[in-house]
Amino acid sequence: MRTHKCGELNKQQLGATVDICGWVHRRRDHGGVIFIDLRDRAGLVQVVVDPDVADTFTIAEHVRSEYVLKISGIVRDRPAGTTNPNMNSGEIELLAKHIEVLNESETPPFPIESDIEVNEELRLRYRYIDLRRTAMQEKMKVRRDVTRILRNFLDDNEFFEIETPYLTKATPEGARDYIVPSRTHENSFFALPQSPQLYKQMLMIAGMDRYYQVVRCFRDEDLRADRQPEFTQLDIETSFMNEDEIMVIMEEMIRQLFAKVINVELDAKFPRMSYQEAISRYGIDRPDLRIPLELVDIADDMKDVDFKVFSAPANDPKGRVAAMRVPNGGELLSRKDIDDLTKFVSIYGARGLAYIKVNDLAAGIDGLQSPIVKFASADVWASVMAKTGAQDGDLIFFGADKASIVNEAMGALRVKLGHDLKLLQGEWKPVWVVDFPMFDWDEKSGRFNAIHHPFTAPSCSVEDLVANPGTALSRAYDLVLNGTEVGGGSIRINRTAMQQTVFEILGIGEEEAREKFGFLLDALKYGAPPHGGLAFGLDRLVMLMTGSTSIRDVIAFPKTQSAACPLVSAPAVVTDEQLKELGIRLIKPAGKEKTPQTK
Ligand code: AMO
Ligand code: AMP
Repeated sequence: MRTHKCGELNKQQLGATVDICGWVHRRRDHGGVIFIDLRDRAGLVQVVVDPDVADTFTIAEHVRSEYVLKISGIVRDRPAGTTNPNMNSGEIELLAKHIEVLNESETPPFPIESDIEVNEELRLRYRYIDLRRTAMQEKMKVRRDVTRILRNFLDDNEFFEIETPYLTKATPEGARDYIVPSRTHENSFFALPQSPQLYKQMLMIAGMDRYYQVVRCFRDEDLRADRQPEFTQLDIETSFMNEDEIMVIMEEMIRQLFAKVINVELDAKFPRMSYQEAISRYGIDRPDLRIPLELVDIADDMKDVDFKVFSAPANDPKGRVAAMRVPNGGELLSRKDIDDLTKFVSIYGARGLAYIKVNDLAAGIDGLQSPIVKFASADVWASVMAKTGAQDGDLIFFGADKASIVNEAMGALRVKLGHDLKLLQGEWKPVWVVDFPMFDWDEKSGRFNAIHHPFTAPSCSVEDLVANPGTALSRAYDLVLNGTEVGGGSIRINRTAMQQTVFEILGIGEEEAREKFGFLLDALKYGAPPHGGLAFGLDRLVMLMTGSTSIRDVIAFPKTQSAACPLVSAPAVVTDEQLKELGIRLIKPAGKEKTPQTK
């Protein structure tokens, strides 16, 4: 139908007659001459319609925004002074000879201009129009480039792309399952995979050596800006590679990805940091290393002070007292700012936000300004000042509580201040977080949870694991980029005895283990090679690489915060016959309530 794409036309076609197709981006009537900006995926071109081509002009008079046209015309230079350096085709225009209306369009519910803010519900309801916006087209292009380059890299490195089932059994990754009833097996359900974890391990046992898959994962969990109920992983597994070898090859892949897609040179070697260090310095296991603020432990100084808020957690093994120095904070932050920050940390359960203004270090305790100064001696404060590296003009914040609360609150405060005060240093800061604990203790249920998943190998023997499950470390690694966990994985357990031990520690009894994971326990008996891998959150990577604030902006058809699709109105009720066939009776029969997608 066409000889060229709109956005591709340039001086090379000067004088040529070309056929283009696209959408009317804008039509301007300039008293006698009509200008049409025609748009396709490649961009825009300006079309000029002169009144002397009478029937074409009449058509041009009647076209509206988003009509689909085929235009034949001659490429010519734009008159001097009217070129547009912001457009690919900005030096030329097309003099229309013939216009064919391929289709009409109703007035779109919102303009296609990228820089106009539109309510997200509306964007998602008319996603096919939203996706016409240049910014969205560019994001889809980056996404295409990302998957292509990742695939190329893995293909070149002898990874096999292998598909694994979507209709399967529960795969524990810490979220709820989406379940699908089976018609042919009464009272039975499939679960959509939270990840292909166990299939990829069985592919290693099957001798596939290196596997990858660009794969959809399904997790029914609370949604946030960087989470979707169905999302895409670049899932990878290898045999006969240790964690160091895996991290090295993956680093190379990510480096090539950034260089080729967004022209960014990442560091030659990504730093590695233990989980313990990340929590201690940043309060979180996915630190944003662009932010130069750090938490410093001061519990040792606070054990005997006359301020219970500090001394109680300082003497509690599960407590933490941490300080965070904000350089020049005395000037940057007003009293009102500090009040707002105090409210902010309360979201994370902090009961307050003590602070000290460092007016004059040389003056000792008299140079420190804060209602809490009186609770401790000059020596105590001198030690705190030394530990935090305080300088005149700084502000020091304090968090004291259960360690988990201090970490969350001060960790979030650190990130907020980093952004609010524009303290970010460098553009891209990847870091591998390693040496995670195997388990964490869940007070509520009174048992251990797996920090990664139950198939992650510990870095100790079965005996040591049984003796000290609470302190055992795993062979897991997460790749964190600018404070976002973009990928994570581990070396896996490849022996039945270790796998059974881990299940036991997790409170999964023998019978339950058999029922849920019997196939894995069996497979491990037949020559399971040492293996390990990881999975990247593809959407998150693309989100970061396109500078998007929401994961929804890099997914063609995402779900809303309430896990619905406003475009097709899913989820939706099903017919009574379908339910009957599946042997399902609803507790609240259908038809009595609104479908969830309409909120
Ligand atoms: P994990 O659960 O850490 O590991 O997931 C791997 C990566 O997937 C991304 N991710 C998500 N992205 C969008 N929405 C979500 N709801 C979501 N959940 C996770 C993150 C994360 O780093 N089977 C293991 C991997 C392995 O051990 O090999 C797994 O799924 O970027
Ligand atoms: P108060 O004596 O309760 O007025 O508290 C004195 C200062 O300590 C105030 O600035 C409070 O915001 C702060 N504060 C109270 N509880 C905590 C806490 N758990 N962690 C850090 N600061 C706190």
